[in-house]
Amino acid sequence: MTPTARLVSSALHASAVQATTDWRRTHTCGDLRASHVGSTVTLNGWVAARRDHGGIYFVDLRDRYGITQVVLGTELADAVKLGPEFTISVRGKVIARDAANVNPDRPTGAVEVVADRLEILSRSKTPPFPIDGEEEVSLETRLKYRYLDLRRAGMRGNLVHRSRFIHAMRSAFLRQNFVEVETPILTKATPEGARDYLVPSRVHPGEFYALPQSPQIFKQILMVAGLDRYFQVARCFRDEDLRADRQPEFTQLDMEMSFVEEDDIFRTWEQVLHETFRDAMGVEVAIPFPRMSWLDAMERYGVDKPDVRFGLELRDAGAWAKTCEFGLFRDAIANGGRVKALVVPPSHELSRKDVEDGLTGIAKSAGAGGLAWWKAGKEGGVGPLARFCKGEAAAALMTAIGANEGDMCLFAAGARNTVWKVLGEIRNHLGKRFGLVKPGTWSFTWVTQFPMFEWDADSKRWFSAHHPFTAPVEWDLGGADVDASSPKLGDLFSRAYDLVMNGWELGSGSVRIHKSDVQQRIFTILGIGPEEQERKFGGLLEALSYGAPPHAGFAIGLDRLTALSMGLDNIRDMIAFPKTASATDLMCDAPSIVDPAQLAEVHIRTTLPAAKAPATAAPAAPPKQP
Ligand code: AMO
Repeated sequence: MTPTARLVSSALHASAVQATTDWRRTHTCGDLRASHVGSTVTLNGWVAARRDHGGIYFVDLRDRYGITQVVLGTELADAVKLGPEFTISVRGKVIARDAANVNPDRPTGAVEVVADRLEILSRSKTPPFPIDGEEEVSLETRLKYRYLDLRRAGMRGNLVHRSRFIHAMRSAFLRQNFVEVETPILTKATPEGARDYLVPSRVHPGEFYALPQSPQIFKQILMVAGLDRYFQVARCFRDEDLRADRQPEFTQLDMEMSFVEEDDIFRTWEQVLHETFRDAMGVEVAIPFPRMSWLDAMERYGVDKPDVRFGLELRDAGAWAKTCEFGLFRDAIANGGRVKALVVPPSHELSRKDVEDGLTGIAKSAGAGGLAWWKAGKEGGVGPLARFCKGEAAAALMTAIGANEGDMCLFAAGARNTVWKVLGEIRNHLGKRFGLVKPGTWSFTWVTQFPMFEWDADSKRWFSAHHPFTAPVEWDLGGADVDASSPKLGDLFSRAYDLVMNGWELGSGSVRIHKSDVQQRIFTILGIGPEEQERKFGGLLEALSYGAPPHAGFAIGLDRLTALSMGLDNIRDMIAFPKTASATDLMCDAPSIVDPAQLAEVHIRTTLPAAKAPATAAPAAPPKQP
């Protein structure tokens, strides 16, 4: 019995002493063993299955802890009325099963309970899907009847795992002297790159709170306050397009530390994650985690969240391409771009069709004009590139990219971002296709020194690659004269870092700007003028001018971490009540239109299509004083 089960069980025994004739359970459906034979017990649970053996009913009774077989005779009149998922209480004697009937797959399989009392606590409609069945159920149905979905062992197990994981993580932070602080949910916009969810104010007509995209500003202010080591299990809200690893509301394990640099954050998290995996799962995660600069990750894996569980690294063909006979390759290098290759050994078979149909399709949708391929051979090789590999050029290319005779070499040429994207996506595709990843391995990597700014050609302005509070590697940004018009900004690196696991971004953080003049300069480069700085970030800027310590922090996506730790590829299954891809809650039917009077109270008038508009619009109520 697990320690938790033992606790529950002893609590149940205690209540049984007070009320032995009660309907309330003395044991859970996972408790009973051969050692209980002869005792009288009361069980509560759901009817998972009922088998009619000519007047005797065998019921599988299920609760969170397991399933116990109960035998109901005809003298129990209600036995015949039982349907799937009825909630019942049964009292009876525990007996040993015949050797032939022992169920070795169930911890309770050595015994059964012969009932002398049955009470139906609650009836159930026929569920829309069997709770214990294996068959696929549509996502819509699962989310609409989430309480039934969560009644299933797998989903219930996920929530229990999540709870244990968070508990272990909290304890690990507390052991390192962190203080847990709750920050507001009704607050002001925190720029993390998504749209805000807004909440209208009743007492301040026309004004809105924003739900936090993260507790970023508050945690920095807590450092100014001298808290030194903060953490929080923080709920965050982002109105962005949803995918398998994104939900509109999600949970971060958020933290911040004072008087530290990157190293301290890395060491703290390595210890926390080591202890969490050990305490919640009995898994020993190797620490410290490897580190890799962003540029290195892009050049070697083509992505900023590399799955380093397999090799197949990108090779640089630039030196060869520079002087080769293929104009397209030469031009790419002359224009400051890249020519890079993936070298696939013959043990991973790729036909011409695989390359020219499948992989070329991936390359094109990633922005490439095409995908050049070459089956390496000292005599010139085979494929479209062979005509540029005459004489010594073939051997030189093989040496340049480390290819052996017969390897399939896939080339992308052009602007570096496109080349990285194309080969990064093909590498991930091949990793899956050839089963290069050993399941059940957790491979963490710190990716460091991201670019400081990214240029957006549409709006013709700079954006922060992480968020605007991230410190640059060079505090003076390369010189006092550097401003928003300097193309040099694109070459600056920041002190941002990500933690990547198995090809997923698990968390992000950075060393922060603790100097208000540098923070103001960054805002200006980002096109946020003095008036907007004051309106949006006045509180932070003011706080930074009262002795802000150097500080740094990090936040990990708890939904992602707990999902990955269970081998799940969608965070939805780690969230009790998730939203659909269009951000709706099918069970509660949210979002929904609200009463006109309620809208009027918060001074809102909607411009809805007629079909959705509420029947009447009430006049706006006068604002009340708080
Ligand atoms: P960032 O925006 O990178 O950093 O978020 C940190 C981590 O939160 C998780 N995450 C999400 N999980 C589920 N659904 C989403 N929509 C979603 N968005 C983000 C990811 C991500 O890595 N304030 C900074 C942290 C810092 O600088 O300390 C921040 O929020 O796992």
